[in-house]
Amino acid sequence: MVAAVVTGIGGWLPPRAVPNEELAARLDSSDAWIRRRTGIRRRHFASEGMAVSDLAVEAGGRALKSAGGCDADAVVLATTTPDRPCPATAPDVATRLGLPGVAAFDVAAVCSGFVYALATGAGLIAAGIARRVLVIGADVFSSILDPADRSTSVIFGDGAGAVVLRAGSAGEPGELGPFDLGSDGGGADLITVPAGGSRQRLSGAEPAPGQYYFAMAGKEVFWRAVQQMARSAQNAVDRAGWRLEDVDHLVCHQANQRITDHLADELGLPRARAVTNIADVGNTAAASIPLALDQAHADGTLRTGDRVLLTAFGGGLAWGSVTLRWPAIDDGRGQGGPDE
Ligand code: UT7
Repeated sequence: MVAAVVTGIGGWLPPRAVPNEELAARLDSSDAWIRRRTGIRRRHFASEGMAVSDLAVEAGGRALKSAGGCDADAVVLATTTPDRPCPATAPDVATRLGLPGVAAFDVAAVCSGFVYALATGAGLIAAGIARRVLVIGADVFSSILDPADRSTSVIFGDGAGAVVLRAGSAGEPGELGPFDLGSDGGGADLITVPAGGSRQRLSGAEPAPGQYYFAMAGKEVFWRAVQQMARSAQNAVDRAGWRLEDVDHLVCHQANQRITDHLADELGLPRARAVTNIADVGNTAAASIPLALDQAHADGTLRTGDRVLLTAFGGGLAWGSVTLRWPAIDDGRGQGGPDE
């Protein structure tokens, strides 16, 4: 069977960095509380008028360049905050990237969106529908945050990350392993934007403005995130025929540093094997895994052939995991590895 192989990576953060102090002042919070309970020091917010497509084009363009050029026959965009409810944002992103005419659509799986989009891209390749797929995770969560909700306002940030998948051969570095994907709609109300869809409609009776904001039952979600990512990660490792102790880098959804630490403990991995960038970017939802990968590639943490385990959990509830050996990406960044 044709394998789906990672061949390029890119990420982008909007320029405006927002330190904890800026939020703490208006939220009856403090830099110390935010650091202690989440591990976050700052996050980036898109400026007024900047939409998720703008971030996706930046990250997608960098990933295409990293893969050697503007070439793809499909664009899959994972996002919770599309430019508008209709149409999907991906076609606009594809056109602006110089890829008009390609298949392009959005995937909605909130913080697990990037893993779902990767699985979709891998599926397009396995089915022979596409040979090269740009997979982007991007979110502008600042556009749906309730400014009065201190538990969500301090966690989320905006950003975008992307990879290019190409058709390749089984066993190549960069080949995506078997996926583990799952969901539990019984938890749909735990992470939600209640209005704006077909349930609480824009037409007719007007919902209270707060209903358009993102809401999360953080405490209830916390341990579910740890336990479900652990189960899903274990499934993906088993399906790949790996052992957990062989994993060099755990790249989990960056929801809260304490979640990442507990997850590493639950899996029996040293915490140092968890890639983490939450301190500087916060929880960037669909962008969080590709942004963490991009940073770890750029700083040389990920070396060619390293065993990488991706796992995510979030609204839906939905989760997903996959393994890969890090590929040689010759984009002038990173350090390569023993194969180079
Ligand atoms: O991305 C999708 C998946 N998301 C997650 O997995 C997020 C999971 N949840 C979390 O990360 C954490 O639950 C939060 C960061 C959202 C909250 O942290 P926590 O340690 O669970 O706090 P808590 O909700 O248990 O609240 C403890 C206290 C409360 O005060 P009282 O009732 O004990 O007096 C909160 O009102 O901390 C208070 N609090 C804050 N205080 C200062 C909540 N947020 C803040 C804040 N600053 N920003």
